[in-house]
Amino acid sequence: MSRTDEERLMAHEYDGIREYDNPLPGWWKGIFVLSIVWAIGYWLYFHGGPGKLPKAQFDADWKSYTVWKAEAEKKVTFVASEESLARLAADPATIEQGKKVFATNCVACHTENGRGNIGANLTDDYQIHGTTRLDIYNTIHDGVPEKGMISWGPTLHPKDLAAVAAYVSTLRNTNVPDGKAHEGAHVDPFPR
Ligand code: HEC
Repeated sequence: MSRTDEERLMAHEYDGIREYDNPLPGWWKGIFVLSIVWAIGYWLYFHGGPGKLPKAQFDADWKSYTVWKAEAEKKVTFVASEESLARLAADPATIEQGKKVFATNCVACHTENGRGNIGANLTDDYQIHGTTRLDIYNTIHDGVPEKGMISWGPTLHPKDLAAVAAYVSTLRNTNVPDGKAHEGAHVDPFPR
């Protein structure tokens, strides 16, 4: 015989509130127990076993990413054309990079601002080899060994070579003071 509601009430009472002794449903207890079992397994695997915690996992991923990136960058080939060089010449980040490459490799002969010394004046509106941005790129790439201009194709990273060529093309017609005397043929400024 089932008990009445009155009989099911527990003995205590707080502020007029009384309660039944209802058991928790089976599914609820099941999840509770499972979560404890899961936590033990998780702890053993990640804190004592082969599992990687987020920081360690991130470090491992980052390491393999940097290795991958270095490999991928080696494969980057820049297709030099008048258009691609003009695009780079309009990109401030590339010009910054080109400036750095220039400061490291070119100032010994062309001076820090490109006015020329052993190397040609890069800031006037005269050019010895060709007239275009692509001609500048090719001169830097192949050099002019018999005149003392090194060929940079084999030593510079393709991106650095493209950046420095783009940068040099922006120097044309800036006519910095005390420049080396004009050499070559007169050239028009690049459209900006
Ligand atoms: C060892 C000295 C030396 C270094 C270093 C050097 N150059 Fe030159 N460069 C020269 C000489 C000399 C010439 C002139 C070649 C000629 O008369 O045909 C020249 C010419 C050039 C020209 C062609 C100019 C024209 O009027 O056609 C460009 C562009 C140039 N250099 C860019 C660079 C860049 C960029 C670097 C650095 C990556 C560099 N050079 C490093 C000596 C050098």
